Amino acid sequence: MGYFTVSGLDMPVSGEVRISGAKNAALPELAAAVLCEGAALDNCPRLSDIETAAKILENAGFSFERAGGCVSVLPRENQNGCVPEELCGKMRSSILFLAPLLCRCGEAAVYMPGGCCLGARPVDLHIYVLETLGAKISADNCKITASAPNGLNGAEIDLPIPSVGATETAVMAAACASGESVIKNPAMEPEIEDLCRFLNSAGADTVFGREIKIRGKNGLLERAQHSVMPDRIEAGTYLAAAAITGGELYLKNAEQRHILPFIKILENMGCIIKSRSQSIYIDAPGCLYSPGLVETAPYPEFPTDLQPQLTALLAVKRGKCTVRENIFESRLGHIPQLRKMGADIEIHDERTFTVRGLDGPLKSESVRATDLRCGAALILAGLAAKNGNRVEGGEYILRGYEDICKKMSLIGIKIKYST
Ligand code: UD1
Repeated sequence: MGYFTVSGLDMPVSGEVRISGAKNAALPELAAAVLCEGAALDNCPRLSDIETAAKILENAGFSFERAGGCVSVLPRENQNGCVPEELCGKMRSSILFLAPLLCRCGEAAVYMPGGCCLGARPVDLHIYVLETLGAKISADNCKITASAPNGLNGAEIDLPIPSVGATETAVMAAACASGESVIKNPAMEPEIEDLCRFLNSAGADTVFGREIKIRGKNGLLERAQHSVMPDRIEAGTYLAAAAITGGELYLKNAEQRHILPFIKILENMGCIIKSRSQSIYIDAPGCLYSPGLVETAPYPEFPTDLQPQLTALLAVKRGKCTVRENIFESRLGHIPQLRKMGADIEIHDERTFTVRGLDGPLKSESVRATDLRCGAALILAGLAAKNGNRVEGGEYILRGYEDICKKMSLIGIKIKYST
């Protein structure tokens, strides 16, 4: 079990950070590689979740090779559609391999996925999608088996909620089904548009929009060649680091348009933010004012994956802010930890809380990450504590932040990972 030691800051952060490829785009794209003759994925981040995806691919009969940021996936002689229980337990995204393995092998099985504990996180919509496309599914509390020996058939898929993962399952499965599919009420996250681009590079015919339209290939796809989009949540986390320390940062390989609601909040709080193509500049004054009310919602609204980081920022700035988490029923793991560091946060119910900004530093404490973005929030909190902090559960953070110690040291943060 690893932990981070953050030394606290004598100075505001300053300098340049290169944002990595997006974990949440690379993972579905590695799953979609199963549908292809082969795949070359550039800008693929080095993260523990990507290593888990590599193991899933290798176990299913694919080679996975990396040269720098470029990853190549090739089918070996034989494939099998089963993802071992141990690998499924490591991350939620293991469920994304079900549809591609089903399309390639005619049957596939995954175990109930693990990953960050943010509430129930059921997989009923993934099952609904595959059944709508004609797969036979048998599922119990621990294993899901899907079969479609004659392939899948295009259909209209009407999602009751715009689930990111279920939309990705639908796009991948429909790309190889026979006939046309329409996904209604899809999630519109940029990572899904990126997945469509990946599939289209391999000859798929997907049109991303308010409804996603797919003309199925009735079989597997050609070779894919794609560069993974920048990680908007990593970009948001570094912007929060600048804001919390009153610093100045220049983010390369970052798209402002992917996190506009977060940018707007930082601007309303008092930060100056400028953006050019694929870069964001932030200049944050020491004194920032709370935005009053923030709610998470599906894209293009404020992302749930930046809610904990924003909470850490609100905890040390001026004014009162109520936050409502609308995506996950239980994503408040960071709150008791921030409170331990002296933050003034009142929880109203499982989804709503009010932060009263201290307008000053937090206390130095040893705290524990309970999930990936909670971990990011606690590192940010360490930057706002005079003598820093210690963040246990560091392995969560390694799931989503490439080279975090190296990148943070380059902008003046003293941070160390120990096991
Ligand atoms: C993805 C992201 C995650 C982000 C989340 C919401 C990846 C690898 N992970 O997760 O970082 O926090 O989107 O932006 O891309 N739901 C169901 N049934 C299902 C599937 C989902 O009820 O079958 C519910 C979930 O419990 C949750 C909501 O739908 O309340 C949204 O989840 P979803 O959009 O599917 O998130 P993930 O794909 O798991």
